Amino acid sequence: MKHKLLLLFLAGAALLLATEVRSQHEDIPYQPVSNICQTCLCLSTQDVDHRTHFNLDCSVRNFEHILARWPEQFGSQAIASGAASEIVVSYSGNRIKLLQQLPATNASLTLSCRHCGLQDLQAPLFMDVPNVQALYISWNDITDDALVPDLFRGPFRNTRYEPIGLRDLDLSHNRIVRLDRRLFEHTPHLTKLNLAYNKLSSLDEATTASIGSVATLQRLDLSHNGLMTLPAQLFSKLTSLRFLDVSGNEFSTMPASLQLLGKSLVQLNLAGNAFLSLKENSLQGLVSLKRLNISSMPSLRSLEKGALNLPALEHLDCSRNSKLERLELADLLSSRNLSQLDLSWNALTTLVINATGSSNNSSNSTNETWPRLRRMSISGNPWYCSCELFKALELIGLNHIDREWDGTEARCETPYLLAGSPLSNLTAERICKMVIPKKYREVDEEPPRFLRRHYIILTAIIASIVLVIGLVIGFVVVCVRRRLKGSDYGVQPIRYTSVRGSNLSQFSQLQPVSVASKFNNVHAGSSSGVTTGAANA
Ligand SMILES: *[C@@H]1O[C@H](CO)[C@@H](O)[C@H](O)[C@H]1NC(C)=O
Ligand SMILES: *[C@@H]1O[C@H](CO)[C@@H](O)[C@H](O)[C@H]1NC(C)=O
Ligand SMILES: *[C@@H]1O[C@H](CO)[C@@H](O)[C@H](O)[C@H]1NC(C)=O
Ligand SMILES: *[C@@H]1O[C@H](CO)[C@@H](O)[C@H](O)[C@H]1NC(C)=O
Ligand SMILES: *[C@@H]1O[C@H](CO)[C@@H](O)[C@H](O)[C@H]1NC(C)=O
Ligand SMILES: *[C@@H]1O[C@H](CO)[C@@H](O)[C@H](O)[C@H]1NC(C)=O
Ligand SMILES: *[C@@H]1O[C@H](CO)[C@@H](O)[C@H](O)[C@H]1NC(C)=O
Ligand SMILES: *[C@@H]1O[C@H](CO)[C@@H](O)[C@H](O)[C@H]1NC(C)=O
Ligand SMILES: *[C@@H]1O[C@H](CO)[C@@H](O)[C@H](O)[C@H]1NC(C)=O
Repeated sequence: MKHKLLLLFLAGAALLLATEVRSQHEDIPYQPVSNICQTCLCLSTQDVDHRTHFNLDCSVRNFEHILARWPEQFGSQAIASGAASEIVVSYSGNRIKLLQQLPATNASLTLSCRHCGLQDLQAPLFMDVPNVQALYISWNDITDDALVPDLFRGPFRNTRYEPIGLRDLDLSHNRIVRLDRRLFEHTPHLTKLNLAYNKLSSLDEATTASIGSVATLQRLDLSHNGLMTLPAQLFSKLTSLRFLDVSGNEFSTMPASLQLLGKSLVQLNLAGNAFLSLKENSLQGLVSLKRLNISSMPSLRSLEKGALNLPALEHLDCSRNSKLERLELADLLSSRNLSQLDLSWNALTTLVINATGSSNNSSNSTNETWPRLRRMSISGNPWYCSCELFKALELIGLNHIDREWDGTEARCETPYLLAGSPLSNLTAERICKMVIPKKYREVDEEPPRFLRRHYIILTAIIASIVLVIGLVIGFVVVCVRRRLKGSDYGVQPIRYTSVRGSNLSQFSQLQPVSVASKFNNVHAGSSSGVTTGAANA
């Protein structure tokens, strides 16, 4: 009896607590539903498999709340019947601060509320919507506090909460710093998670455990979060992950944990990170990787030999790396299925294919190197049009170069003779026969930067020599002047004029001997001829 009473009391307390938790947002009204299809766009269609699709578009309607019920037009039968129907509803572009619990349905549901100014989510959102498929709530103001595990709990049956069917969750462009360790405990079917453009800069232990617990995950987007590394625990259970986007982060070295994804990873985006170089073996073990994006890295200077040894690779985007001067194409020769290669807008001057093992007979090897190559772009690089470059291009198939990819054509920058010529106008045969005049070659082979530095040093040396000479001359002049001032010669001009004056007077007095003797005193005999001439006159 006592036990029973205690139990009853406990149950009552629990109920009270539960209602208290639930009543947190209980008094907030929903949007009125009557005649909703005159405000929103309602659409229902049936496909060949007799599945009914309901579409409710309430985007940009100045709503502050979601609807309390599904529109009557959808029919109560279809709403209840589950797998046979699908509801797609959009509240995007309204001013909904709080996303309230959704009205009950057994249909599969896709809900979007992008650009809603969402700050809070009422837990549990999907208690009466166990077949929710996708939730798109990007471009809101959601913070860590709103993301609690109870958010995703399903209906309570027997002893526990049922899991929900959520597969696709888009939380990008919010203000999430970390995730609750148990956030995904009610979502065992989640395959796609987008956390791009948040503030997950350091994946702490709880956040790592949270994402790492979703063993079904196939697509993960962690781009633009200021990440510096990826902890190993993140991937240890994610054996189904096929698509990973970590672009726009701060990686300077390749996270070693990527190798844990070796068997499953098909697509990897590393664009816009802070790599200086890709080291040998940094992508080792990614045997299934088909698409790799290593573009837009402002500090990437080299791809070392062995960095791109990816046998399954089909698409490579290695463009817009403004400092990339070195690229080992030889690695890519092992990627037999390569079909798209973008090497545009780098700082490449040449391509070296060290094709040991593969034939160097250009007439036939073209289709053999990459038999599936369809598009290739090499424009926007400062190509040095050498025999070597054209041999390499011919080996990989110059005829595949796509001139229309971005509307620009690859052109030679050096040597001087060929500057500005489109690569498509030239052939290996012509370039290899061409004799480049020595005076051009010397200039071309040296990078202009060094040339300029050379000139600067030369100019500096010449300038300093001139300065020193100037100083020495100045010094000497000053010294001589001082000495002249001290001696009799210093007043020589005055004396000379006085002598000349006296000369004139002496000329008039016709006394040549005395004039000559006076001049001899002054010029130590050097001008005696003149004086005698004058005397003769
Ligand atoms: C969904 O189906 C369950 C039985 O599978 C039923 O008990 C429940 O009432 C249904 N929900 C709705 C909203 O019709
Ligand atoms: C590679 O990533 C950059 C930046 O995210 C993007 O602009 C580009 O389109 C991507 N390339 C491919 C081939 O998807
Ligand atoms: C290349 O593609 C073919 C057919 O798509 C596939 O069978 C083969 O395994 C691929 N090669 C590699 C190395 O992945
Ligand atoms: C080509 O490969 C051979 C051996 O692998 C090596 O000795 C040679 O230096 C390489 N040449 C270039 C230009 O890398
Ligand atoms: C390349 O061709 C030359 C002859 O043109 C030949 O001597 C050389 O062995 C060839 N190299 C390879 C790797 O086939
Ligand atoms: C290239 O291969 C053809 C036959 O396919 C052969 O006749 C020619 O001599 C080869 N050229 C070189 C340089 O090996
Ligand atoms: C070179 O290619 C032609 C067809 O383009 C083919 O008939 C010939 O057998 C090939 N030669 C070799 C050595 O592969
Ligand atoms: C090589 O490709 C060209 C077209 O790009 C094609 O005409 C030719 O038949 C191919 N040769 C071989 C041997 O596949
Ligand atoms: C390319 O070659 C064609 C014909 O050989 C020529 O008419 C054209 O002027 C060349 N273009 C350039 C930019 O040199």
